[in-house]
Amino acid sequence: MAEDAGQMRVAAGRLEFKSPVLLASGCASFGEPFEDFFKLTEVGALITKAITREPRAGNEPVRICETPGGMLNAIGLHNPGVEEFATELLPKLREAGVTVIVNVAGHSEDDYIQVLRRLRDEPGIYGFELNLSCPNVDGGMMFATDPVLFGRICEKARAVTELWLIPKLSPAAGELAPYAQIADGAGMDGVTVSNTHPAMALDWRTGRSRLSRPSGGLSGPAVKPLTLYNVWQVAQTVPELPILASGGCSEACDVIEFVRAGALAVQLGTILFHDPLRPRRIHEELPALIAECGASTLNELRGRIG
Ligand SMILES: Cc1cc2nc3c(=O)[nH]c(=O)nc-3n(C[C@H](O)[C@H](O)[C@H](O)COP(=O)(O)O)c2cc1C
Repeated sequence: MAEDAGQMRVAAGRLEFKSPVLLASGCASFGEPFEDFFKLTEVGALITKAITREPRAGNEPVRICETPGGMLNAIGLHNPGVEEFATELLPKLREAGVTVIVNVAGHSEDDYIQVLRRLRDEPGIYGFELNLSCPNVDGGMMFATDPVLFGRICEKARAVTELWLIPKLSPAAGELAPYAQIADGAGMDGVTVSNTHPAMALDWRTGRSRLSRPSGGLSGPAVKPLTLYNVWQVAQTVPELPILASGGCSEACDVIEFVRAGALAVQLGTILFHDPLRPRRIHEELPALIAECGASTLNELRGRIG
């Protein structure tokens, strides 16, 4: 897919991806929806749907609704649980040679640690994205909005595995830079900026939520300027910490904007529901845009703002 592999390769700290285009957690399931569209080995990484200790059925429908410029979701961590992931789903990804980052979620510190322990020696996993910020389950925000709990879970996770660890920050925390500093201090390999934005949508006639829960998480183009700001803030504060940008990336030029703001790579989420071929299109378009910026590799553009 990428014409020039070197031009697309991005690396910082311990993180390295052959492409800056990653598939965001929950928006690519375990890769199956894309098998007819492109090879999963062509993207930088597949970030799995959140994996919890036990299987979870998620929230009742309605779990997704459209809003102007964005999507509101309240999936509620629907997933088969760590055991089925390890024995049924991971082997297929491993055999296919996909770069897998497992998104880990839980309700307690112990939940996270148990999932990491179960998976840390499984071949075929490059790292873990710690989903500390799920807005769609009760109590799901606490690790991302309390600096003490956030720091403690990062440290405990670090003690469990040497694989990449990337906590996913939440916009609900307010300014994200202090959390990035804590993550850096706890030896995290990077941060994802960020999860969805707590939001709601109402039916004006009935006053009822358009989701089965009163609120959900907003994603898509509507949040892109917010993500860009948060990425830039974090990059200014902790310049050495690799950032994975997540929130509103849809086009090849968005990738360049996020990288210029300081991101190492970007995650495609909501756009995949509209256009499953978008990773391929972005790969095709990026080389010309990089050249137009006067650079020979994307990595060179990181942090280069006017
Ligand atoms: C339907 C749906 C399910 C999601 N599930 C997860 C999840 O399981 N774990 C997680 O960390 N983020 C989850 N997210 C958040 C995305 O990974 C991503 O951070 C967010 O949607 C912002 O990116 P986007 O604007 O490109 O969609 C989900 C988002 C959507 C839309």
